[in-house]
Amino acid sequence: MASTLEIVILAAGKGTRMRSDLPKVLHRLAGRPLLGHVVDTAHTLGAAQVCVVYGFGGEAVPQALADERLTFVLQAEQHGTGHAVMQALPQLADGGVTLVLYGDVPLTRAATLQPLVVAARAGRLGLLTVNLADPAGYGRIVRENGRVVRIVEDKDASAAERAIREVNTGILAAPSAALKRWIAGLGNDNVQGEYYLTDIIAMAVRDGVEVETHQPAHEWEVLGVNSKAQLAQLERIHQGEVARALLEAGVTLADPARLDVRGVLRCGRDVSIDVNCVFEGVVELGDAVQVGANCVLRNVKIAAATKIDAFTLIDDAEIGAAGRLGPFSRIRPGTRLARDVHVGNFVEIKNSQIDEGSKINHLSYIGDTTMGRKVNIGAGTITCNYDGANKHRTVIEDEVFVGSDTQLVAPVTVGRGATLGAGTTLTRDAPPGELTLSRTRQVTISDWKRPSKK
Ligand code: UD1
Ligand code: CA
Repeated sequence: MASTLEIVILAAGKGTRMRSDLPKVLHRLAGRPLLGHVVDTAHTLGAAQVCVVYGFGGEAVPQALADERLTFVLQAEQHGTGHAVMQALPQLADGGVTLVLYGDVPLTRAATLQPLVVAARAGRLGLLTVNLADPAGYGRIVRENGRVVRIVEDKDASAAERAIREVNTGILAAPSAALKRWIAGLGNDNVQGEYYLTDIIAMAVRDGVEVETHQPAHEWEVLGVNSKAQLAQLERIHQGEVARALLEAGVTLADPARLDVRGVLRCGRDVSIDVNCVFEGVVELGDAVQVGANCVLRNVKIAAATKIDAFTLIDDAEIGAAGRLGPFSRIRPGTRLARDVHVGNFVEIKNSQIDEGSKINHLSYIGDTTMGRKVNIGAGTITCNYDGANKHRTVIEDEVFVGSDTQLVAPVTVGRGATLGAGTTLTRDAPPGELTLSRTRQVTISDWKRPSKK
């Protein structure tokens, strides 16, 4: 059996250049804290324990990721990456292997990390390096006869060492017992007065432990976030990858550069998405669903062949097949639309169930409502669901016709097949099959004169 994998994520740094009160690792990429992306990758690798070393920002970091199967270790003062790993050592089992990741390096793929873990399980030190056109600022990989012998930090490097383009990503894996021994031997006699994790490389070489390097498939996998500009850059790279995967799966994207997925987007066959749409949480689009420009969909399930027109917002709802929504519709939490429901412009629906074939095409508010089949709601209809203290339900049965500019003061029921005349304010139940209206009889006053200026 392969030895246990434990993962230490360094996340104690302040991130001064973010110019923010929020700890750096809690800034969001694709709607999830940077650290959350690293945690997801750690769990994907099957880690028995994921240990987060936090510091700056105090309890904000453990609080933000309280439900994610993590061990938290405080590094109260930051004395370097070696010092950070040192704080986690008591948590690590001697017989296992440890992989060190960084809370501000969010896009490393599990497939890139796997070979490092394999190396550590074979008793070697696995190190992720990358060749950069501009290596300034990074620790350099010093090799002799092709073999890694040590890492020298940029600030401690000679001019010749600074010319080395192969740099340390910081990501490494090693047998935990050896890691503990090496970390215990670290000193801080260097330009920055810090305990460098990178010094363990020379210790491994001295102990006869082979250092095995791997490189990521893409440079962006090892890019860290130090500023808002870098955060925005990684966001675009991530979104580009999401778009690429959707295109590969057969989704039509009007412009892959104008799509934002902040969560999970699952699509059936022949789905098409116009520009500037935002998908949050878990969104499922059935076969042949079309989403118009500038829509925001959050935690939504949309069944096959439904068309969502431009500028529509849907939050926490289920939309049936062959429906038509928008442009400019707003669907709020707790809404369930059955198949073939039409919702038009400037219509807001909240916590309502609407059955097959019903239409609410213009300028209406439908809240806390149960609506039957083939109901037609006229323009400007309002369900008055709130009395200032409590919410009440409106029930509209099958095949009701509601005239324009009608208010239904809940709790109220409109019986099957009833018609409400335009302009009705309904305060009592309307009987099935009948015409109910509340407006006064129309009169014409023949000798009436408009007021004139004196
Ligand atoms: C480190 C490496 C360097 C590598 C670079 C890659 C060391 C000594 N140097 O540089 O070789 O090229 O990463 O980006 O390891 N952190 C803590 N506690 C600390 C110090 C750091 O949690 O006491 C965290 C930071 O929050 C950050 C990460 O560790 O996420 C790296 O720290 P940073 O100071 O950015 O890296 P360098 O030391 O500059
Ligand atoms: Ca540093």
